[in-house]
Amino acid sequence: MANLVGFPHFEPLGAQHDRAAFSCGTAELDEYIKVLAGQHARKKISTTTVLLVDGPHRIAGYHSLSSTRLDLGELPPDLARQYPRYAEGIPATLLGRLAVDLFYRGHGWGEALLMNALERSYMATGVVASAFVIVRAIDSAATQFYARYGFSEFPGDSRRLYLPMRTVQHLVAGP
Ligand SMILES: CC(C)(COP(=O)(O)OP(=O)(O)OC[C@H]1O[C@@H](n2cnc3c(N)ncnc32)[C@H](O)[C@@H]1OP(=O)(O)O)[C@@H](O)C(=O)NCCC(=O)NCCS
Repeated sequence: MANLVGFPHFEPLGAQHDRAAFSCGTAELDEYIKVLAGQHARKKISTTTVLLVDGPHRIAGYHSLSSTRLDLGELPPDLARQYPRYAEGIPATLLGRLAVDLFYRGHGWGEALLMNALERSYMATGVVASAFVIVRAIDSAATQFYARYGFSEFPGDSRRLYLPMRTVQHLVAGP
């Protein structure tokens, strides 16, 4: 029997992980981990973190994070008023992709991945500030998944959602 001491855990995507076996049912997200995630990590475009449940090779799920910018005009006016108006926009963190392998669905791993992504996003603000976490939902089911955790849809775009970093702070670090 496999020695599962130390699992589950999260670690950066590396050559030891079995990317070919990953299947979440959404071709774009499967393709991303198989082909693009490693290239993007090397070019510092995004950082992919994998969730390992059964041992060091099989990927149960992953998420990818990068920096982005937000135009205040995209936010509801009441919220936008709370932030300074800079031509560059304001800094934000993009949770570009998050997926769980079909074999591991429905056991809380999606939530664990999301919480890990939010925790990492918040920790990074100790070095480089970011005022929001932004996600792009692949379909309406994904929109519902993120809405459960407090994400709000951008006005006029139900596939793009935001969560203020102050809310993330409460979620991961407490009041
Ligand atoms: C969305 C996804 C990450 C959920 O993974 P999972 O491991 O099955 O989710 P969990 O078991 O952690 O579920 C956490 C909660 O979200 C709910 N949930 C799961 N998938 C959901 C969905 N598609 N829509 C709405 N709610 C969902 C669950 O019912 C659960 O709530 P509960 O604790 O009250 O029962 C997974 O279905 C997936 O990878 N889908 C394909 C890719 C995708 O849509 N990625 C997200 C955005 S790009």
